[in-house]
Amino acid sequence: MHKRLFIPGPVDVAPDVLEKMGTQMIGHRTKEASVLQRSISDKMRKLMYTENEILLSTTSGSGLMEGAIRCCTRKRAAVFSVGAFGDRWFKMAKANGVPADKFSSELGQPTTPEMVEKALSTGKYDLVTITHNETSTGIQNPIEEIAEVLRKYPDVIFCVDTVSSLGGAKIEVDKLGIDVCITSTQKCLGLPPGLAICSFSQKALEAARQVENRGLYLDLVEIYDYIQKKDYQYPSTPSLSHMFALDYQLDKIMEEGIENRFARHSQMANYVREWANKHFEVLPEEKYASETLTTIKNTKEISVKDLNNKLAEKGYMISNGYGDLKDKTFRIAHMADTTLEDIKVLLNIIDEILNQ
Ligand SMILES: Cc1ncc(COP(=O)(O)O)c(C=O)c1O
Repeated sequence: MHKRLFIPGPVDVAPDVLEKMGTQMIGHRTKEASVLQRSISDKMRKLMYTENEILLSTTSGSGLMEGAIRCCTRKRAAVFSVGAFGDRWFKMAKANGVPADKFSSELGQPTTPEMVEKALSTGKYDLVTITHNETSTGIQNPIEEIAEVLRKYPDVIFCVDTVSSLGGAKIEVDKLGIDVCITSTQKCLGLPPGLAICSFSQKALEAARQVENRGLYLDLVEIYDYIQKKDYQYPSTPSLSHMFALDYQLDKIMEEGIENRFARHSQMANYVREWANKHFEVLPEEKYASETLTTIKNTKEISVKDLNNKLAEKGYMISNGYGDLKDKTFRIAHMADTTLEDIKVLLNIIDEILNQ
């Protein structure tokens, strides 16, 4: 039996979107491929509120995270971490020989603008990475306030991981001055995993041109130059199946209305938080709580494994805590095409199980 997924990615994919993944192939060097890929970029620009170029990568989101830190750091990167995915960005820097320092917040706490200011005022850094929405702790960082700090440092490249928020929360890339905004398909966009997407500013491009060892497959300059020269075709064979499905899903997102989509995510988030605070406790402070998933402190010390086993019998699945937070927390995702109705049904079932 298929389990309805309330885990923070991969998410359930709507049957009509899934069907588009099975579209027969086209040549990746044809005009049709150019039209398809240009269409995706145009729609992604709307969803990201940007005029910047869009780059697609046949990797998961981690691919573009690695590409961004490697390609755009000229001097030294300041990596701000609020959990597992900020830590991953730091590991990527180290593994690629990119000079970097990590600035960690206490578990469950955000990256503050003061932390960013303190690091940048040293003049040591020319690239900053921020996790917008940390999927382990369910924290949504105060990106507007952080962006204010970045504005004072025009030479610093601003990279943001929006893997678990873009498409579910409003992220105005140009207004915030984000140079590289990265996401992947399997979360709020509601597609299968396997494709990563980023916006890429001219400032990031110019910085990256100064970096000598950018690798090849994840060289953002190589991808950028290629799509300019070859009318939105990619240097290597992309996952055309994802392209068909993404183009179609973006139409559906526009049909729903971007603002309506964000409002739906907010409604679901509010509902889950209210439920969580009634029975347990939401991990982050209210003002930093994510719009797309809720990390709940296991204050009743229930067995998350048993809960999930019982949910599985009824055809549902939620997530245990991530890493050190396993069993101490559990997570309920409210992202992509999930509705408030779906959330109510899930929470009623959890209530029934917990009352048994
Ligand atoms: C916040 C965040 N960043 C990065 C990643 C890595 O993305 P991917 O699994 O698409 O490589 C994830 C995946 O869960 C994530 O939640």
